[in-house]
Amino acid sequence: TESEMNIMKDQPNHDNHQTNIENKDTLTNRQGHPVTNNQNVRTVGKRGPATLENYDFIEKISHFDREPVPERVVHARGAGAHGYFETYGTVGDEPVAKYTRAKVFQEKGKQTPVFVRFSTVIHGRHSPETVRDPRGFAVKFYTEDGNWDLVGNNLKIFFIRDAMKFPDMIHAFRPDPVSNVPDSEQFFDFCSNSPESFHMVTFVYSPWGIPANYRMMQGSGVNTYKWVNKDGEAVLVKYHWEPKQGIKNLTVKEANEIQATNFSHATQDLYEAIEKGDYPEWELFVQIMSDDEHPELDFDPLDDTKLWPADHFPWLPVGRMVLNKNPENFFTEVEQAAFGTGVLVDGLDFSDDKMLQGRTFSYSDTQRYRVGSNYLQLPINAAKKRVATNQEGGQMRYQAEHPKGNPHINYEPSILGGLKEAEQIGKEYTPKVEGNLVRESIDRQSNTKQAGETYRNFEEWERDELISNLVGDLSQCDKRIQDKMIALAEEADEEYGRRLREGLATAAKDGSSKNPIGNKDSEKAPQQAVEKGH
Ligand code: HEM
Repeated sequence: TESEMNIMKDQPNHDNHQTNIENKDTLTNRQGHPVTNNQNVRTVGKRGPATLENYDFIEKISHFDREPVPERVVHARGAGAHGYFETYGTVGDEPVAKYTRAKVFQEKGKQTPVFVRFSTVIHGRHSPETVRDPRGFAVKFYTEDGNWDLVGNNLKIFFIRDAMKFPDMIHAFRPDPVSNVPDSEQFFDFCSNSPESFHMVTFVYSPWGIPANYRMMQGSGVNTYKWVNKDGEAVLVKYHWEPKQGIKNLTVKEANEIQATNFSHATQDLYEAIEKGDYPEWELFVQIMSDDEHPELDFDPLDDTKLWPADHFPWLPVGRMVLNKNPENFFTEVEQAAFGTGVLVDGLDFSDDKMLQGRTFSYSDTQRYRVGSNYLQLPINAAKKRVATNQEGGQMRYQAEHPKGNPHINYEPSILGGLKEAEQIGKEYTPKVEGNLVRESIDRQSNTKQAGETYRNFEEWERDELISNLVGDLSQCDKRIQDKMIALAEEADEEYGRRLREGLATAAKDGSSKNPIGNKDSEKAPQQAVEKGH
């Protein structure tokens, strides 16, 4: 009891080696044994040798040896926070129930707890947060129907449209496998030979490729999902987060200045804002399309390299999210958090977007390896509602999930007891799927058109930065790669192509040397734009 503790605490403790007095601050080992000497290994005489039965030491050091777990294969560097999502109950000026029966959206003002993890993509767990890279924006909603993960990025599109290409893309973007030095030639080799990536390259090489921090960036689900209503009818949706803090991106010069003194600036910014009660907030918007192929569009609605033009598919507000609590421990919450695109609740569904389908296998697959097969029992990943399965075993399982009533029945069906299937409330969504099995890409590829629109939508300083950044890195590349990139830029926009060609010609004359680290400095550091959309 508390009073016994106090008595123990008040007792003098003259000889650490022979008493075992424990109070609430006492260090113990993992078996609960109070540790009376945390300074010296046990040895034969003061000068050793050490003995093998030295349990306290061996337990301490062998646990330390196992501290690292595999880092995420991508998005290894990240920061996280807790908060809540609050639904408006409407989508634009219509009731949300018209499009989805997902409970998380229904009742105006209803709050659902969330955990969010922001990240960079390519480099390792302790890499600088100033890199030119997309930023991850993953949200776990602990809904009354179980968890929903919306695993997005800051940018609204992606480099590729087929999951088959993802491992190659990541290999090309990572440091060289021999020297371990980043090499933009490999990046542009892959991208110039994957013309669908040109729109994303245009964003990533503009200031939009270095968000100032995690609070002042947008988020997007990127892939196309579906909403399903109570009648089992579906629409296509895209999700976007808009920061109340405004959007701020960095020039290379600004990023380099930060990086010189701090490579955790974004993590620190998020942590400190929340600590001082300046809670970051985002509004959630959706774009909706009817669930068909939309032959009138010059792109496919399932192609994640395309923006859905906001004038035809308006951004409709559905709710807001506030982050108001920092993690209590980085490892148990941020590092062990596991998000996946397969984690949907009733009323939300997948589309046939091929990237989305590939992703959906990959996330939980890697998490069973990275965190372990019972990763969903960890508090950060567990649903905040009743979980009852017939699953057994696996490493580090600490809870049986089957019913208390008759714990012998870990199977279904049974008349002796056990778990029963839930009753279906809404009408099942049963899309008809028909076609030959093929290995082919989609029609309507339209690889460069939107890149041209994006280029023209940029402000002047953003175009200047884009050209300067592209010239800086491309000038280090094989001439054939440069020519392919120029051709894509010309196809996108006459001026874009001309400026890139001229810039590379000038760089070739200057004979600028190969500097593979990237982030080469451009002279300009103009005012930041705070702008919605793009
Ligand atoms: C993390 C695979 C595309 C956003 C990951 C992880 C894998 C993965 C294996 C590590 C997960 C973990 O260890 O917990 C893939 C594959 C893709 C793909 C195979 C394409 C086929 C995308 C796209 C986006 C995205 C298009 C943006 C919408 C993220 C984010 C994380 C992540 C935000 C970090 C999640 C976290 O904070 O834990 N991805 N990814 N990925 N991916 Fe993807």
